[in-house]
Amino acid sequence: MTFHLADTAYRYDTPEAKETMYADLRSQLEGLVHGETDWIANTANFSSLVFNTMPDLNWAGFYFLHTPEELVLGPFQGKPACIRIKRGRGVCGSTVDKGEAIVVPDVHAFPGHIACDVNSRSELVVPVFVNGAIAGVFDLDSPLPNRFDDVDARGIESLVRILERTRA
Ligand code: SME
Repeated sequence: MTFHLADTAYRYDTPEAKETMYADLRSQLEGLVHGETDWIANTANFSSLVFNTMPDLNWAGFYFLHTPEELVLGPFQGKPACIRIKRGRGVCGSTVDKGEAIVVPDVHAFPGHIACDVNSRSELVVPVFVNGAIAGVFDLDSPLPNRFDDVDARGIESLVRILERTRA
């Protein structure tokens, strides 16, 4: 299989521009995971697709629940990161508790934020479900404050739903 990442420099300054980017990402992701059920391969390619397509990111990757109380680092792109995060700790562990996406406009203002990369200024974490149960999170970090909003949360969720179907 050959796969070509779009050369497009995506704009994200309007909701419409974001919707265009996420529609393209969904289409590329469908192609990437088509016919493939290997979870590590699909989550690794998912991280790469998002990290290399979305502007102004410094980290994108997964943490998975290895026990009900602890997340462990999964496939990612960016600098080496914290390996284990307790449920309820940081943005990732709080997302597991909440079961919904968390948008953090300013990481310094989030109580208990875990700083893996000092360059991170804002963050978006989206839960990943397998067979109806929370299985982990997909975490995006940006060096820019206020990089993510609810349009991004819904857009990343739409990508995660495609990924989850490869486990069904
Ligand atoms: N900031 C996250 C930790 C993971 S890193 O950003 C890759 C948190 O507070 O849970």
